[in-house]
Amino acid sequence: MKNIILTSALLLGTALAGGAGAQSAGMGVPSTNVNAAASTSGQASAQSTGTASPLPYNRATTLPSSGTTDLNKSVAALQNTLTELQALQLQTKQAHWNVSGTLWYTLHELLQDHYEGISKYADDVAERQLAVGASSDGRAITIVAASRLPEIPGGFLDDAQVISFLTYQYETVGQRIYQRIGDVEKVDPTTANLLQEVEHAIEKYQWQMRAFLQNTPTDPNTGADLNNGRPVPLRGK
Ligand SMILES: [Fe+2]
Repeated sequence: MKNIILTSALLLGTALAGGAGAQSAGMGVPSTNVNAAASTSGQASAQSTGTASPLPYNRATTLPSSGTTDLNKSVAALQNTLTELQALQLQTKQAHWNVSGTLWYTLHELLQDHYEGISKYADDVAERQLAVGASSDGRAITIVAASRLPEIPGGFLDDAQVISFLTYQYETVGQRIYQRIGDVEKVDPTTANLLQEVEHAIEKYQWQMRAFLQNTPTDPNTGADLNNGRPVPLRGK
């Protein structure tokens, strides 16, 4: 039995090391083919440039360079954003199905767009978390326990209720992501850029909800600019 386990372990080690090309690496921690090729071609390896992952089999990945504390900042920013996006996925679908009232069809269609956009960004954020070397937690229990967002009411939903509820949700999530961009922009600009993209979309969705509620700045009868050319102020900005 022991021999079978030992043989399996050796085979697994060879596979992780990248096959025949890495067998010469010896009995220590297996190196990757990527690093082996870099050292013979004269190019800087991940090890020599200080960009190496603390994880043994992830050395070729570009990671935040300043160490474990900064990597933890990226993981926290990404995981919290993922959890909130997943909550919004559920809530936009719930509203898409149950909205009623004069604006039901407009909101039904718009919320399908929002759901699809949010789903794409949730996937991008989860997979960025894998790219920096952490697992992603997309479990239902995590969404309930950690999103810190009000739950959408059950049953049929009045159109005005959907508009004010999602305006608030998008505003809250947008502000949280905005803060996280600041947390990681120095140590992990790639994650910061992704969060900017997500925040940009959430602000757009917030505008698309808010626009149902806000007064038009132009008088529809006279054409006069009632708001004097000033933008409508956003809460929290
Ligand atoms: Fe649908």
